[in-house]
Amino acid sequence: MIPVYQPCLTGREKEYVNQCLDSTWISSRGEFINRFEKAFADYIGAHHATSVCNGTVALHLALEALGIGPGDEVIVPTFTYIASVNTIVHAGATPVLVDSRETDWQIDPEQVRRRITPRTRAVIAVHLYGAACDMEALQRICSEHRLFLIEDCAEALGTLYKGRHVGTFGDVATFSFFGNKTITTGEGGMVIAREKSVLESAYHLKTQGVSPVREYWHDVVAYNYRMTNICAAIGLAQLEKIDAIVEKKRQIQQWYEQALSGLPLRMHAELPGTRHSYWMCSVLLDDGTQRQALREHLKANDVETRPFFPPAHTMPHHYSADAFPIAENLSARGISLPSYPALTEEDVAYVASRIRNFVESGGMQKTRPVDQQAPALVS
Ligand SMILES: Cc1ncc(COP(=O)(O)O)c(C=O)c1O
Repeated sequence: MIPVYQPCLTGREKEYVNQCLDSTWISSRGEFINRFEKAFADYIGAHHATSVCNGTVALHLALEALGIGPGDEVIVPTFTYIASVNTIVHAGATPVLVDSRETDWQIDPEQVRRRITPRTRAVIAVHLYGAACDMEALQRICSEHRLFLIEDCAEALGTLYKGRHVGTFGDVATFSFFGNKTITTGEGGMVIAREKSVLESAYHLKTQGVSPVREYWHDVVAYNYRMTNICAAIGLAQLEKIDAIVEKKRQIQQWYEQALSGLPLRMHAELPGTRHSYWMCSVLLDDGTQRQALREHLKANDVETRPFFPPAHTMPHHYSADAFPIAENLSARGISLPSYPALTEEDVAYVASRIRNFVESGGMQKTRPVDQQAPALVS
């Protein structure tokens, strides 16, 4: 079976983890925490970073560190991984779902503008599948309306917008290091913030709100969201290889683009002025009704795939009868293909040949060549 993802642990991960074990610093204190946070902030181009135990709590902390809570509305795309929406509810605020853009599959700034009310406090830009959102448009809207801009970069490590790493455009940004992410710590996450005070607040909340000067004194209802030294050790070793990992992922995308050329599907475009990190090599089928049959065909040929996220508004706890036509359409037509860094050109050729074989045996109508034209960056 060619899996959708597997971590690439070929660097100093074992050596660093053994250092944790040998030193007995296996909990959430130890030298690797600071080393990983510092190296991560440097890589992103951020002033400050604080590690956490996953990308979901990173979002929860980001919201609470900005003071978002009951009575506040936060605008978020319905087409996203569920944590981007659930964490707004965890913070006691109300998610306001908006549609995405067909061109780049990301939150639509025009839809954001339409859903602003006097209660809106923040917008969450989720950089989905490794592409960047339209940050100029979102920054403009947020500054006009005095809203916080939060970037969910769980799927976008290595992604650039106009030469800057995503996560550096908003007030606060979050990352995930789950096992299928561009770098992994098993489970893990990071919060970065523009203002030191916001990061200090995130740090305070992640460490049980403990007083820095009085032992066992807690001045706020807070959490234990800390990362362990062992996870940070793995993260540091992973980060040492980030350039090679992103380069390889971009190479894999190119192999897919060549091998899938001419088929009735579209790959995720790299918009002008951005660098896509291809967390997932994803395709949008012209005919979404064929998706399940194609996935089954690939599974029968030992290729694992993933469907796109169902929009949040279709789930019972975030249900909305409002129309989100683009999100629904993208969600119904998308498949993520195997995308891990150790894939070889032969692996990619094999996956593509199985897709081609499905199309040629009548599984999908061959209607038009793959659309490699990057649409204009709207901002
Ligand atoms: C867009 C997005 N946000 C948040 C998360 C949550 O991260 P984690 O799984 O580390 O909690 C994910 C994870 O898969 C994600 O894809």
